[in-house]
Amino acid sequence: MRPPLAGGFAALVFALCFAQGAGAKDVRPAKLCGACHGPIRREWESSSMAQSWKNPVFQAFLSDAKSALGDTVLASCIVCHAPMASVSADTRFQSPVSEEGVTCNFCHNVSAVDPARKTAAYVFDSTDPDLMRGPYADADPKNAHGAVHSELHTKAEFCAACHSFTHPRSGVPIETTWTRWKSSSAAASGKPCQSCHMPSAPGQAAPVLQSKQRPDIHAHTFAGAHAAGVLDSAASLDAAVQGGRLKLTVHNRRAGHALPGGGGGMRVITLTVRFEGAARDSIAGQTLQTYGIRYADARGATPVPKWLAARVTSDREIPPDSTVVEWCPIPPKAKRAVATLTYHFIDPAYVQALRARRVDLSSHQPFVLARAERKLP
Ligand code: HEC
Ligand code: HEC
Ligand code: HEC
Ligand code: HEC
Ligand code: HEC
Repeated sequence: MRPPLAGGFAALVFALCFAQGAGAKDVRPAKLCGACHGPIRREWESSSMAQSWKNPVFQAFLSDAKSALGDTVLASCIVCHAPMASVSADTRFQSPVSEEGVTCNFCHNVSAVDPARKTAAYVFDSTDPDLMRGPYADADPKNAHGAVHSELHTKAEFCAACHSFTHPRSGVPIETTWTRWKSSSAAASGKPCQSCHMPSAPGQAAPVLQSKQRPDIHAHTFAGAHAAGVLDSAASLDAAVQGGRLKLTVHNRRAGHALPGGGGGMRVITLTVRFEGAARDSIAGQTLQTYGIRYADARGATPVPKWLAARVTSDREIPPDSTVVEWCPIPPKAKRAVATLTYHFIDPAYVQALRARRVDLSSHQPFVLARAERKLP
């Protein structure tokens, strides 16, 4: 069944898009897709992948990378952070779509992924950017665009295009999410990345065109640790006293990979403990452990961001389906211990310098994953 205006509407939106001039056939903004896939567009817009180029923290680090390694480093960053710019060689960002980060038309035109490849593990099919690859074998996009069933899009390997990466020169691990996922019980039980990060619900893929009612429309929020809902309480924390010491047990409850999920040299999770006296006054406090991967550069300076990584200086993670235990001596007079597990988008080691440069950190505030309190004997 075809709504009377569908063809005309599709022709109109595509005409608007193609009217942009030379090279525009590769350049389809999310806004265009959103004309029919409105709810999906709104979800995607709220995701950090939609901000992977524009976000001020990325931009600040990019300018550091350029100062350290020269402007040509840009090409190696945009492979993942602005893949449309990369596949259309728009390194001067003349097309607004280049700034859309990991965007619709990019993901839905990827035709192959080989995580073993060192750079750009994906193949972007530029021969027909109008042919959308997606999960359905019976998609009916009217004459809006072509559609073809893609098994790849339902698999973790698709995400490995960017969430699996080894430094091309030093060989140190940078993005480990996919590798860690492979050894998880989630992988063993057939749950790819999508099953947690793109949970499905009944609905319509293109409500404007009154498309089919389907049982499995996939959320495009790509929610991470800070998301409410499915990923809540990704970790738990217990505090106990054993043999006169404080025993802290951290459990990776929900992630289908290690915690943090990736982002070597950037994302870390800290475990801090504070001891209080009888009047709940603070007696002592310390960071007991930092989970995540940290690097040193060729001269030994540490921590440094991933592009300078010559070797790994610490690699502590909370593995999938696992528990790690940390011990802490209890100071005299302490009556209560308060332990906190905090997720940091950016290694706290970099925060002061970013603040001094007035980089907007509002979307990168640390947040508490779990907390535990214990009365002491
Ligand atoms: C990071 C890659 C990525 C981006 C960005 C992305 N998608 Fe998707 N999309 C997918 C994957 C993967 C699936 C299939 C998930 C599955 O079947 O497990 C999908 C499914 C779909 C579907 C089929 C219906 C559904 O929800 O399952 C439509 C339609 C769609 N996407 C449109 C869009 C639009 C429009 C945008 C931009 C606003 C967009 N996608 C951005 C990866 C992406
Ligand atoms: C192979 C793909 C890939 C390449 C190449 C890459 N990145 Fe990333 N980058 C990622 C992924 C994936 C994340 C998010 C990791 C996570 O959340 O687990 C990320 C996160 C970041 C972050 C944290 C961003 C934020 O907003 O919190 C910065 C900064 C960053 N990358 C900078 C760079 C720079 C600069 C380059 C080039 C020198 C680069 N990246 C190259 C995939 C890549
Ligand atoms: C004029 C309306 C319209 C526009 C604009 C549009 N689509 Fe679609 N699209 C549809 C309809 C209708 C379907 C079929 C839905 C169904 O069968 O449930 C569809 C299906 C899809 C599918 C599923 C394909 C499959 O085989 O699983 C993907 C992916 C997709 N669109 C992506 C996009 C992207 C990306 C854009 C922007 C570049 C876009 N669409 C623009 C109407 C549109
Ligand atoms: C073209 C590269 C690319 C592909 C393909 C890709 N991602 Fe990402 N992803 C990124 C980058 C870059 C970031 C970091 C964005 C930032 O923080 O600035 C990221 C961030 C994320 C986040 C972090 C969310 C948060 O707010 O902490 C999640 C979750 C995620 N991706 C899931 C997925 C899933 C699931 C897939 C496969 C369906 C996928 N990604 C495919 C590049 C990619
Ligand atoms: C069983 C559910 C599950 C599966 C499967 C899963 N994840 Fe996650 N993921 C989570 C949870 C829960 C979090 C929140 C904890 C966190 O961010 O550390 C998370 C966080 C993330 C983050 C956020 C930032 C970070 O670095 O901590 C990224 C990126 C990510 N996952 C990517 C992936 C990719 C890529 C895959 C597939 C290779 C995948 N996830 C498979 C549950 C899952």
